[in-house]
Amino acid sequence: MTEPGTSPLTPVLTERWTEPESWTLDSYERGGGYTALRKALTAEPGQLVELVKAAGLRGRGGAGFPAGVKWGFMPTEPVKPHYLVINADEGEPGTCKDIPLMMADPHALIEGCVIAARAMRANHCMIYVRGEALHCIRRLSRAVREAREAGYVGRDVLGSGFDLEIVVHAGAGAYICGEETALLDSLEGKRGQPRLKPPFPAAAGLYACPTTVNNVETIATVPHVVNGGSDWFRRMGTEKSPGPKIYSVSGHVANPGQYEAPLGTTLRQLLELAGGMKDGIPLKFWTPGGSSTPLLTAEHLDVPLDFEGAAEAGSMLGTTAVMVFNETISVPWAVMKWTQFYEHESCGKCTPCREGTFWMAQVLERMVDGRGTEEDIDTLLDVCDNVFGRSFCALGDGAVSPITSGIKYFRDEFLALCESNRTNTEPALVGAAR
Ligand code: NAI
Ligand code: SF4
Repeated sequence: MTEPGTSPLTPVLTERWTEPESWTLDSYERGGGYTALRKALTAEPGQLVELVKAAGLRGRGGAGFPAGVKWGFMPTEPVKPHYLVINADEGEPGTCKDIPLMMADPHALIEGCVIAARAMRANHCMIYVRGEALHCIRRLSRAVREAREAGYVGRDVLGSGFDLEIVVHAGAGAYICGEETALLDSLEGKRGQPRLKPPFPAAAGLYACPTTVNNVETIATVPHVVNGGSDWFRRMGTEKSPGPKIYSVSGHVANPGQYEAPLGTTLRQLLELAGGMKDGIPLKFWTPGGSSTPLLTAEHLDVPLDFEGAAEAGSMLGTTAVMVFNETISVPWAVMKWTQFYEHESCGKCTPCREGTFWMAQVLERMVDGRGTEEDIDTLLDVCDNVFGRSFCALGDGAVSPITSGIKYFRDEFLALCESNRTNTEPALVGAAR
């Protein structure tokens, strides 16, 4: 693995973010923008798919599915219209990489969209942006207009004969619409709820047509792969998780923000980049990829944050939303807050998640309030057991992750809350941050 900070290759995706007016077409072209598109337009669609496969680019939305393999599922003989849909509904707690990317460098995403659409023979691209991010929707819409006026988007892109329309679509702020099939329903004007898979979107996606849904960061990486080539790309990161990644580091660190580093970077290294723990108060727990990924502790400082490393440590890489908590934070309190979020965002389609998130929140609220009993820990784990693996989409599993991992590493804290109820004392919440 390439060491972060010492890699001559990174930053890649964030390199232009500090340029003045980095979001304008002028600035993008001055930095060599749209040269990858010109190159891609001379290649056959299949060659582009093979290039992305060879680079080993994996989805940056959380699941890590190989992008080239996904593109390869699209039919090569278009019978129905093909769609490319960009999932810009970034909603996972702690995740703040796609919106900053679209704000700082919208043309990187647009260039990636045109290349990806060409690779998949799609003439329509929808960018589904989180509704609350109005500032981002405005900036992106303006960038699409600029690109269209310059001939990079629209009819006969750069005289190549290839047509692509890009539509920026505002979501309405539902977390579940970040789930790809709920997003497709929402785009079709329906209530956003997950669909049964299979069929996967490549077989029947938007308007039942072949569709690929990719995350913003994945597609913004594509022009770099086209320019640099697969060998260059594989020089960063690990063998199975190559390339650079934007880690959103938040919480009790001196300098929270987006840090780009090769995949496989550890929390210890990220903390160095982020100036260490805030006020020197020691680390207690953290999430590698948002609240849907199991919590880790100070024992896991050296876990490589790539898809394999996070899984081996008993968690998941997810969206690389690294939320860092120091010793002042009560684990049951933090877990309760996340559970309340999932209860609120559960779409209600399936019983395990709809009822389970409600009961999990009820039990946790009772415990944090000092009204819990020791049996509540088992009740909680029992409900988790009935939600995990039994829910219709990943939201149910995600809701369980902070609870089961919180109890696994910090059972004593949950017990102490119940103990305070038995002895009629104040709830033993650790710290002032409740
Ligand atoms: P998934 O593993 O079911 O699918 C990943 C992608 O691969 C999808 O596009 C799917 O269509 C495709 N795929 C998987 N198997 C396939 C097959 N056999 N044939 C064709 N295509 C196939 O994961 P999912 O449910 O899409 O995403 C879950 C992840 O999303 C979680 O791990 C979580 O980290 C992340 N997440 C991200 C959020 C964000 O704000 N970025 C919000 C919430 C969750
Ligand atoms: Fe809806 Fe939750 Fe079921 Fe997903 S798991 S379909 S969010 S109720």
